[in-house]
Amino acid sequence: MDQTFQLTVNGQRRTILTDPQRPLLQVLREDLKLTGPKLGCGEGQCGACMVLIEGQRQHSCLLPIQDAAGKSITTIEGLAKGEKLHPVQEAFLAESSMQCGFCTSGMILSAVALFNEKPNPADEEILSWMNPQICRCGSYPRILKAVRRARTQIHK
Ligand code: FES
Ligand code: FES
Repeated sequence: MDQTFQLTVNGQRRTILTDPQRPLLQVLREDLKLTGPKLGCGEGQCGACMVLIEGQRQHSCLLPIQDAAGKSITTIEGLAKGEKLHPVQEAFLAESSMQCGFCTSGMILSAVALFNEKPNPADEEILSWMNPQICRCGSYPRILKAVRRARTQIHK
């Protein structure tokens, strides 16, 4: 039976009436029209659906809406502050780190989650953190370059 849930999405309070088991990804894309998070594998294996929950990365394809209720959720649409892009977004643009762009939202949010935990990660830590994220276009070298570039901005 449908239930009502309160979420804070990109700083805005939202009320959703839905099946408690429905994945957060579906609610974001279909109900709230936030299409930055993508449906790739749907199994927690690719990272295309990544969002931040309370600043930590989370696969939204696997998370039932009932487990996201009451939490603060950030999608790529809410990452910039007004006109000012997040340093990770700026670095991805500066390094042209996308081809089709399908993985880009998840890559960026995953990198932001890393910097939330560790503002100055070592190269090996970046590699290991980003390793589960899949880019079917194979843009890995430029993605890693962008994350390293963002590190220098964030750690200044
Ligand atoms: S769509 Fe969620 S991890 Fe692939
Ligand atoms: S840029 Fe196409 S999937 Fe990564």
